[in-house]
Amino acid sequence: MESKKSILHIDIKGVSPFIEQEEYTLFYKKAKKAFKTLTEGTGRGNEFLGWLNLPNTITKSQLEEYNNIALEWKENTDVVVVIGIGGSYLGAKATLEALIHPFASEVGSNGWPKVVFAGQNLSEDYMAELLDLMAGKRVSAIIISKSGTTTEPAVAFRIIRKHIEDNYGEEKASKRIIAITDKSKGALKGVADKAGYRTFVIPDNVGGRYSVLTPVGLLPMAVAGLDIEKMIKGAADMRAICYRESDYNPSIKYALVRNLLYSKGKKTEILVNFNPKLQYFAEWWKQLFGESEGKEGLGIFPASVNFTSDLHSMGQYIQEGERFIFETVVDVKRPSRSVVINSDSLDSDGLNFLAGNSLDQINKMARTGTMLAHIDGGVPNIFIEVEKIDEYNMGALFYFFEFSCGISAYILDINPFDQPGVEAYKKNMFALLGKPGFEELATKLRERL
Ligand code: PA5
Repeated sequence: MESKKSILHIDIKGVSPFIEQEEYTLFYKKAKKAFKTLTEGTGRGNEFLGWLNLPNTITKSQLEEYNNIALEWKENTDVVVVIGIGGSYLGAKATLEALIHPFASEVGSNGWPKVVFAGQNLSEDYMAELLDLMAGKRVSAIIISKSGTTTEPAVAFRIIRKHIEDNYGEEKASKRIIAITDKSKGALKGVADKAGYRTFVIPDNVGGRYSVLTPVGLLPMAVAGLDIEKMIKGAADMRAICYRESDYNPSIKYALVRNLLYSKGKKTEILVNFNPKLQYFAEWWKQLFGESEGKEGLGIFPASVNFTSDLHSMGQYIQEGERFIFETVVDVKRPSRSVVINSDSLDSDGLNFLAGNSLDQINKMARTGTMLAHIDGGVPNIFIEVEKIDEYNMGALFYFFEFSCGISAYILDINPFDQPGVEAYKKNMFALLGKPGFEELATKLRERL
């Protein structure tokens, strides 16, 4: 039986009208095989399985080191700029969006620095506005790049580093910059060594989008004042659940059902939330599944919506548009705060029937109503629920989806740990920018313009 105390609850009732029992049994076998491939390390890309054990191998002293930096910067820093892209950014961004008060600057932030992100785009306006924010503030930076060669963060770092050095001088600036990168490869390692930055290593056997439980995710979370021990505990507890070879293992269930739906033409999965705090969690999830599975002409297209906002934009399509989609709702059992609807003596808006309800009760009814309507409209529904949004449950969710993604990709016999397709745009960009060595490609591209 599924343990009542399970951190994460998965309900696939909303899929039953769309599948047959024999199909489920067939895909269950496939998923069990893929589970073994993952846990026994016999699949494609198996040199990148270090993330499987991260929650159990991270040491107290590593966590302490991140927390000590957080305390140091709490004293001497107003703004921490975290520079990175893709897997070197989305885990921390998702967590901060979920757990930091969205109006912290206005209502007070308990003294922790404001953590902002850079290097996740090449927008000049974004950078100019970030420089506006940094002006006159005490700034520190964390530059994160596993390869140490990615253009977007490298360009952003050059600009932000100059800003910090101009303000503090090179030596003091070097105490305010931390580099997280490969142990030996890439330009960033050389830059960090030369300048004397503190550095943390991203293990060789952990790829970018599986690195949230390394310093890549944990250090930015710590400097924002979050409890990274709790996050690791959530991930470790979820690891124990994911490793169970039982019918109730939620990661097997999720991976098998999404692939079964895919085999029946449901080629797009929409991750749904009913809480804007989870908006960036969906961005992290999209990268995880998109880069892990979208190759060799295969893979479910990962999309996302934020309800109820998007019920007033995408809701129409989901209800009545082309039927190639299914939804996975990630929901939260209880909110962290309480707001109750007040009664009104005039009731001129006719809402007194809601008086005494919490906003969350209304949200939950919107959720249930939407799920049932979408199922009736031909959209299968997978429902995933955790207790609340905190560090513990975020850690559990990260681990759950990483593990499920490994199983899911192995069901398709795809290597979940490479991303060969990401190179194509980079080559064209370098050629168009005149990088030495790309002259021939530049000529060919220009002929097409
Ligand atoms: O998952 C991945 O490997 C990628 O999304 C990378 O995280 C992303 O391209 C950034 O790479 P890097 O950390 O090498 O700068």
